[in-house]
Amino acid sequence: MRPTIVAGNWKMHGSFAENLDRLTALVAAAPALAHVQMIVFPTFPYLVSARSALAGCGIEVGAQTVSEYAQGAYTGEVSAQMLRDVQCSHVIVGHSERRSLFAESNAQVAAKFMAAQQAGLVPVLCVGESLTERENGATEAVVFAQLDAVIEAVGIGAFARCIIAYEPVWAIGTGLTATPEQAQAVHSAIRQRLAKHSESIAQRVAILYGGSVKPDNASALFAQADIDGGLVGGASLQAQDFIQICSAVEK
Ligand code: PGA
Repeated sequence: MRPTIVAGNWKMHGSFAENLDRLTALVAAAPALAHVQMIVFPTFPYLVSARSALAGCGIEVGAQTVSEYAQGAYTGEVSAQMLRDVQCSHVIVGHSERRSLFAESNAQVAAKFMAAQQAGLVPVLCVGESLTERENGATEAVVFAQLDAVIEAVGIGAFARCIIAYEPVWAIGTGLTATPEQAQAVHSAIRQRLAKHSESIAQRVAILYGGSVKPDNASALFAQADIDGGLVGGASLQAQDFIQICSAVEK
């Protein structure tokens, strides 16, 4: 049985006070949602306060990116060990906004994945195609290239301790969601790609869908055989929307 995970990627939003309101609402909702692994991803300055607001309620805290370097003269960067030190459990690597706006390459994403795991963090590896790539029939080629770069760098065994998020770039923040069938097709293809290396790891790894997940489309997405939850951006900023999305996971 794979875990069902609903993760909130807060991106560069929020303030100390707004985050506290949102976290307080999540803490109150947590006991009824014990069958869902919830993870929130605030920006770096708020990781410590988020961790303490969530103490003991079972909701995990992760960071939105991490340096591929262990330490040194890398002004502005944050290492995986530092994230562990402030009790982060997860980190997003390869989000499409990092890939497109900050020019992160597949090789760099693979290095971040490795750095995260070496420090004991669970990487949430994001993959996904642009609209042009989908229209050109290149969805699988793009997603497989993103996946293969990491498999080649870290080996399939490392996928026993990661989460994958399929996030079609055209669905992120646009209100356009992949249909459950479109998403399921890619999730299944990802699992088959992993199964070429290890059937047992392929069956074990949680693959989340991301891209305009909302309270009204979450249950249909989560009902698909290979969709193990969601990576939620915009809707995770509204506590009640996020809680409703978590409630869409069947017990
Ligand atoms: P969205 O973002 O839910 O706002 O589309 C998802 C993401 O970028 O992880």
